[in-house]
Amino acid sequence: MSHGTSPARPTVSDSPAPAVSDSPTPAERRARYAELLDRVQGLPTIAGPRRRTLELLGLRAGQRAVDVGSGIGRAVAELAGTGVRAVGLEPDEAMVRLARERFPDDRFPTAGFRVGRAERLPFDDGSMDGYRAERVLHLLADPAVALAEARRVLRPGGRVVLLGPDLSMAALDADDAATTAAVVAAHADGVPSPRAARAFRRLLLDAGFVDVEVEAHTELHTDFQTVGQLVTAMAEASVATGALDRPAADRWLAGQRRRGREDRFLMALPLFLASAARPAGPDHGGGRRVPARPAGDGRPA
Ligand SMILES: C[S@@+](CC[C@H](N)C(=O)[O-])C[C@H]1O[C@@H](n2cnc3c(N)ncnc32)[C@H](O)[C@@H]1O
Repeated sequence: MSHGTSPARPTVSDSPAPAVSDSPTPAERRARYAELLDRVQGLPTIAGPRRRTLELLGLRAGQRAVDVGSGIGRAVAELAGTGVRAVGLEPDEAMVRLARERFPDDRFPTAGFRVGRAERLPFDDGSMDGYRAERVLHLLADPAVALAEARRVLRPGGRVVLLGPDLSMAALDADDAATTAAVVAAHADGVPSPRAARAFRRLLLDAGFVDVEVEAHTELHTDFQTVGQLVTAMAEASVATGALDRPAADRWLAGQRRRGREDRFLMALPLFLASAARPAGPDHGGGRRVPARPAGDGRPA
């Protein structure tokens, strides 16, 4: 998944950058990525938590919401379908164009898409009734900055809903547990905040939100085809970081492919879902002050 404006960085839950032998153009990579996001969002184990994010936002027609890191825009369209005035915010301009093409104004009059980043939201203080971010906070160097912004743009009583994977906890059935652990760790460590999702509760409380609730779900894959690009990217990450040498990574990947061919593949990934509200009373800046990030490891643990 992209860290910024290019959809280049693969992660466990959604990998746009297959380390495959062909050499796709940027446009082809983006198209594949959009297709992958669509496919993953439609999977039963993800569709459920996604629906739940909309329930937990609890928005009514006419209210305003932002979906941060909106990708191809599906959640924005779903919110707009209920009459919510929804805006998708996304740093990747090409993704914004794609979302606008998929969900044009004439068919989705209450949906909009704009370019921007979670760390600096282009909205006025207290202007939003809802804030949603799905599979985004792990991509940020400092998720606390994004949540301070979420709090700023929400009106008192406005709700925030976060959904994200814990990349360190990916479970793959494999012959060699130690090699698999090395692959998972190498891949997770290449992402800015791989454990942000398990920290959602703490981050929301520290940002001054109230009524914080957390749920755990599981993204489950038994079809290698769906996540083959991703599993390949994980193996590549283990080589790139030096965790495994090339032959070891190739053997591991070949084992996963064989499981796929023999219908024996399984990968599971915890998804944390958290919801909270901005306090309804007068706001004094809320929460604990976000400390300056220490050099080294200021990531959520
Ligand atoms: C894994 S995708 C998820 C997309 C969409 N939320 C979904 O669930 O299908 C992460 C998205 O976050 C975006 N993103 C990356 N860095 C961001 C940032 N600093 N602020 C907002 N979005 C960001 C990426 O461009 C990408 O579209």
